[in-house]
Amino acid sequence: MISLKNVSKIYHMGGEDVYALRDASLSVRDGEFVSIIGPSGSGKSTMMNIIGCLDTADEGDYLLDGEHIHNYSQKELAKVRNRKIGFVFQNFNLLSKMTAYENVELPLIYQKLPSSERSERVKWALDQVKLYDRKGHRPTELSGGQQQRVAIARALASRPSLFLADEPTGALDSRTSTEIMGIFQNLYEQGNTIIIITHDEAVADQAERKVRIRDGYVSEVAV
Ligand SMILES: Nc1ncnc2c1ncn2[C@@H]1O[C@H](COP(=O)(O)OP(=O)(O)OP(=O)(O)O)[C@@H](O)[C@H]1O
Ligand SMILES: [Mg+2]
Repeated sequence: MISLKNVSKIYHMGGEDVYALRDASLSVRDGEFVSIIGPSGSGKSTMMNIIGCLDTADEGDYLLDGEHIHNYSQKELAKVRNRKIGFVFQNFNLLSKMTAYENVELPLIYQKLPSSERSERVKWALDQVKLYDRKGHRPTELSGGQQQRVAIARALASRPSLFLADEPTGALDSRTSTEIMGIFQNLYEQGNTIIIITHDEAVADQAERKVRIRDGYVSEVAV
C-alpha cells in the first residue's frame, strides 16, 4: 500500500524555488494497476523516485506498507527498495558486456542468494517474458522490445510485489509497446501492484486507474 500525503519536492535553482511536486497526494492499494501521465517536466520521475525510495520528499509524508519513509538514510532506502520494488526504465539499463542471463542474475548475486536458487529464479523470470532461449545474447544482440523484456525479467527475479516503470515503452514502437504492456497486464493479473509512468495516453489507458500530473499538481482522471 502506497500513501503519499501532501508531498512536495522543491529544487533550489539560482536562488529560485522550483516545485517539482506540489502538495501531491496519492493512494495506491496492493494489486492495483495505475498509470501516471503528464507532459515533460511535470514531475513524473520525481514522483516515481519518491515512491520508489530513490529519493525523499521535502514536505509531506510518504508511507509504504505503513512504514514512514521519511528521513531515511540512503542505506535504509536501499533496503526497502531491494526488498519490495522492481524498477523498469525507458532505456532498459542493462549491462552491455553481460548476457541476458547474467543481467537477470546480477541483483541476485548482490542479494547473496545461493547459486542453485539463482539459476532457478533466472530461468523462471526469463520464461515469464518468453526469452529463456535468448539467455546467451548480449543487449546489442537483442531488439529493443527484447531488451526491455530482459529488464522486466531482472526486476521479476527479485520477486518484488511492486513494479515501478518510468516510460517503459518510451523507446519502443507501438507494436512492441503493446507487447510490453501485455507483460505488465499479466503481472497485474498475478496480483502484483504496477505503476507505470508515461506521457502516452494510449499506454496510460491500459491501466486500471489513471492519475494525471501537471506542473507538480496531481489529479485523478477516469480511464
Ligand atoms: N535534480 C534536479 N534539480 C533541479 N531541478 C530538477 C531536478 N530534477 C528535476 N527537476 C525539475 O523538476 C521538474 C520535474 O522534473 P521530472 O524529472 O520529475 O519531470 P518528468 O515529468 O519526469 O519529465 P520527463 O517526461 O521529461 O521525464 C522539472 O521542472 C525539472 O526541471
Ligand atoms: Mg521523467
